[in-house]
Amino acid sequence: MAAPILVASNRGPVSYSAREDGTFDTKRGGGGLVSGLSAIGPDAGALWVCSALSDDDREAVRRGVAEPGVRMLDIDAAVHADAYNGIANSVLWFVHHLLYQTPLEPVFGTEFRRQWAAYENYNRAFAEALAAEAAPGAAVLVQDYHLALVPGMLRALRDDLRIGHFSHTPWAPVDYFRMLPDDIAEQLLHGMLGADRLGFLTRRWADAFEACCAAVVGGTGGTRIGVHGLGADADFLRERAHRDDVDERMAALREQIGGPERRTVVRVDRTELSKNIVRGLHAYRQLLEDRPEWRERVVHIAFAYPSRQDLAVYRDYTAEVARVADDINSTFGTPGWTPVILHVKDDFARSLAAYRLADVALVNPIRDGMNLVAKEVPVVSDEGCALVLSREAGAYEELGEDAVVVNPYDVTGTAAALHTALCMPQDERAERTKRLAAAATALPPEQWFLEQLRALDD
Ligand code: G6P
Repeated sequence: MAAPILVASNRGPVSYSAREDGTFDTKRGGGGLVSGLSAIGPDAGALWVCSALSDDDREAVRRGVAEPGVRMLDIDAAVHADAYNGIANSVLWFVHHLLYQTPLEPVFGTEFRRQWAAYENYNRAFAEALAAEAAPGAAVLVQDYHLALVPGMLRALRDDLRIGHFSHTPWAPVDYFRMLPDDIAEQLLHGMLGADRLGFLTRRWADAFEACCAAVVGGTGGTRIGVHGLGADADFLRERAHRDDVDERMAALREQIGGPERRTVVRVDRTELSKNIVRGLHAYRQLLEDRPEWRERVVHIAFAYPSRQDLAVYRDYTAEVARVADDINSTFGTPGWTPVILHVKDDFARSLAAYRLADVALVNPIRDGMNLVAKEVPVVSDEGCALVLSREAGAYEELGEDAVVVNPYDVTGTAAALHTALCMPQDERAERTKRLAAAATALPPEQWFLEQLRALDD
């Protein structure tokens, strides 16, 4: 059946793992898009086109395993690796998050050109699948930097479709974006401008995109641009955060913290270069150095879940996070006090437990499209949580007024902000948390999704 609404993204809503007996376990993912799609109802005939991301996924596709409403593309593993690890995560992600160490990188030579060809093939596979599955006049919502060329390619195949593209990342400033070779920069922008409408998480990223278009391709043509600040899903989070497994994890965390009078600084991230976890640890160390009164009285709960471990720079960063955490513990720890509790095993129930009991949440990315942790913590916090927030996170536009705002590079400033947040009186913390929760839930995922669908029709 041809689909009237399609979503396309690299990472889809399901993943498979092979069981011993040759059948497959299906794991459903969460996230804004999944709950957004649920808004249009199970009978709407929507289709989610995504990529197989592992050998087990590819095997499941080959054996005909398919979840209703999901089409997983079995793209050659080497092509996918070059497109995803090579271009999407090592070039486009780096450009939009300003992650290059520019004296030595980037190097756009033959290796890059080879990977770029894979990125084109990967995008073409999506465009062809979407063209084949879409009903006449269907709405297609393409997601993120992995699929920047899809709108233009799809437009060439199917002129009848209404095509949207949404960027979940920041957008690079013009001078940084122009590190890309001119022909590549043009191709990327033309690819996206093939859409009827482009969506961004904040005005700042939309403006940066328009500035790049003006500088590189002379403007945005007829493509409309909109801002949709994805919010937290309050109903889901509040219900999920009060199930038994979360209560159990709260009890376990309290035991690790050791003593009800101890304050907690919580962070929850993918172990991601842009999340600035190492500087966050340095700031916490400086707090303990500059303000010895906090020793034994505060614990930093840092959840840093492994991410993109195919890339050496991510593996090195993961090791550095563990090294710095260990170093703080061996410098300051005492028999009854572990200053940093680092957990690396992804456990959503434990993340929610930490959200509920946090006195301070540390969200200090170098740069972040939105940052949903900053929006989720105030929604589930039991007694109010002070938010230390980077001004470079998209969430700053909506939450800045009630957060303790930091420049993410300023470790001394971040240490001072942690102190301010830890000292915030309980009633002020509770008041701010209420206002933060209201701002954080202004555009829940379902509405976020429907808004984009409606805007495509305008
Ligand atoms: C960011 C991107 C998403 C991506 C997610 C996890 O939020 O905007 O598109 O899915 O990171 O990264 P991964 O590489 O594991 O899919």
